[in-house]
Amino acid sequence: MTISKLAREIKESPTLKMNEQAGKLRDRGEPVIHLGAGEPKSKVPLDAILSAASKLTTADIRYTPTEGIPSLIKAVIRYTEDFYGKAVGPKNVMISNGAKHAIYNIMVTLLDPQDEVIILAPYWVSYPEIVKMCYGIPVIVTPEDGRFIPNMQDITEAVSSYTKAIIVNSPNNPSGAVYPPEFIAQIVEFCEKKGLYLIMDDIYHKLVFDKKSAVSCYKYARADTENSKLIVVNGVSKMYAMTGFRIGWTVANEKIIAAMINVQAQNMSCPSVVLQEAAAGALMGVQSGVEALRLTLENNRNVMVNELRAFTGVKIIPPDGTFYSLPDFRAYSKDSVALSKMLLEKALVVTVPGKEFGMEGHLRLSYCGSMKEITEGIARIKWALDPESTNEIFIGDRKYRRDWK
Ligand SMILES: Cc1ncc(COP(=O)(O)O)c(C=O)c1O
Repeated sequence: MTISKLAREIKESPTLKMNEQAGKLRDRGEPVIHLGAGEPKSKVPLDAILSAASKLTTADIRYTPTEGIPSLIKAVIRYTEDFYGKAVGPKNVMISNGAKHAIYNIMVTLLDPQDEVIILAPYWVSYPEIVKMCYGIPVIVTPEDGRFIPNMQDITEAVSSYTKAIIVNSPNNPSGAVYPPEFIAQIVEFCEKKGLYLIMDDIYHKLVFDKKSAVSCYKYARADTENSKLIVVNGVSKMYAMTGFRIGWTVANEKIIAAMINVQAQNMSCPSVVLQEAAAGALMGVQSGVEALRLTLENNRNVMVNELRAFTGVKIIPPDGTFYSLPDFRAYSKDSVALSKMLLEKALVVTVPGKEFGMEGHLRLSYCGSMKEITEGIARIKWALDPESTNEIFIGDRKYRRDWK
């Protein structure tokens, strides 16, 4: 059996791999704590459920236009106007199977073989792999040690004649950093000047803490919509806790969207009508759930940061948004893959190695679970790593003794 060179080069998703390992341990009855998760636990908004149910009861479930159903496109236009203060038309929007699929469609649409895409570390694990799947080359720009905010000078130096696009994700997975308005202003201006596509992955845009907010990239764009190379991606997965619905969207100029519609028509026809109805229901319905989720996450963030601050040797930059933190564990191990594996085996805690996000020596710890999971999870990590912490711990109803250095 031969498998393509391309497929062989695509890395297994580390987050999905950790989920699988944790699932196996749970199936064996082990009391695993999952600090690796990438989805909120809150309930899906009722408006989404009612909207999907009402579509289902028609028993008339067909293909939709490739770009999405008119009611969802309208809802995205309204969202873009309300949230970004940007007026766009129906030809500027395309619905996909989640933001991930939107990003894949964008890359297929933009990249020729060997085109380079600048990715800012720490980055979401899928960006480099998606670029590679489109025969492009990911070019990683890393901030100075101890910071999560990219440096414009480093980005400028990474741009070559092959650079096609820059992808920005703020609030950021995995660091939780929200890039300052000055940075967003600079990068928008820079991309306009250089004629580069700027892809803004805004999937965590509403999950920001401490009365801060993520700035709208459109605020700094000079070019009008149809001449702009600014592409905004968003979706219902995170803000409405609708990860299982797989609905995301792209907002861009009409030419890009028209090309993306051809791409999407050939790779999946259209997203499911039932799930599109659900997303339209969420976007047009009662919005209080988003704020409730944001508040819960802010509270969880505070607890996680406090627990980590009390952890000798661990350095933490408090996240400004999302539901991830990326503490620096280099005082304990420089090999985050080995560290993460050890924590799963010894302490039954799932973490994601920072190496996968371009930040070796760090671990991504999520705080979208319960308060108990956060406090107990960190207590177990502390027990497993810190020689000054208590030597014995209860995991489930079993007592464990630390007998390693
Ligand atoms: C930065 C980022 N972008 C996109 C996605 C994908 O979102 P969706 O579920 O809409 O495909 C994720 C999911 O974890 C993410 O973290």
